[in-house]
Amino acid sequence: MSDADARRDVAIAGRPLERAERSRHAEEGAHDPTATPYFVLEDLLGAVGLCEDSHLLDVGCGAGRVLAYFVDAGLPGRVTGVELDAELAAEAAAWSARYERVNVVAGSALDLPLAGYTHVYLFNPFDTPVLEAFLDRLEREAVGPVTLVHMSDNGEWPAYLGRDGWTVLREGAFDLSGAKGDCPQHYTVRRLPKTGRA
Ligand SMILES: C[S@@+](CC[C@H](N)C(=O)[O-])C[C@H]1O[C@@H](n2cnc3c(N)ncnc32)[C@H](O)[C@@H]1O
Repeated sequence: MSDADARRDVAIAGRPLERAERSRHAEEGAHDPTATPYFVLEDLLGAVGLCEDSHLLDVGCGAGRVLAYFVDAGLPGRVTGVELDAELAAEAAAWSARYERVNVVAGSALDLPLAGYTHVYLFNPFDTPVLEAFLDRLEREAVGPVTLVHMSDNGEWPAYLGRDGWTVLREGAFDLSGAKGDCPQHYTVRRLPKTGRA
């Protein structure tokens, strides 16, 4: 983690938010709680078109780096982080409690009602079977257009194959040497324009 990122964490959250530990939930398909660097969030979420009516979901928020960026950047709307690891969720909830447009839910993204979210961010949260189940639920439950930003080592792309209606708006890669060993990390911004099918 860069010193600048750690300072930004401390300014908003009162503590560094990067975690070097391994996931305690690997058997459930969970990945390690690596935080997205701020320069990536500025590029991806700073330009994703959030407005006062937006509700951003960070899928697997870890200790809350995306939530801290949301506050620090003064982004409009609301943000919710959902985190499977109870210790990480409690930490994110503790520091973010003072920010009224930030909310943290402890539990699996597969159990979270998804209606109402306008934007979804995923940084390599889980294995492909979990991603497929999550996308199935998002397609069923979304009540309006959803913009989804997905960053990973590009292993996620088969989960999107054959899904109707998704449009790729933007894609590329970031060199995350030092932040994530297996760089570069690929990102895709996709839009699901249709409403829920349930
Ligand atoms: C790579 S970290 C990303 C952290 C944060 N979103 C960021 O970008 O800084 C992925 C996180 O997803 C969490 N996770 C994995 N499976 C999950 C699930 N089913 N529901 C909620 N969170 C999950 C992991 O515990 C981990 O903290």
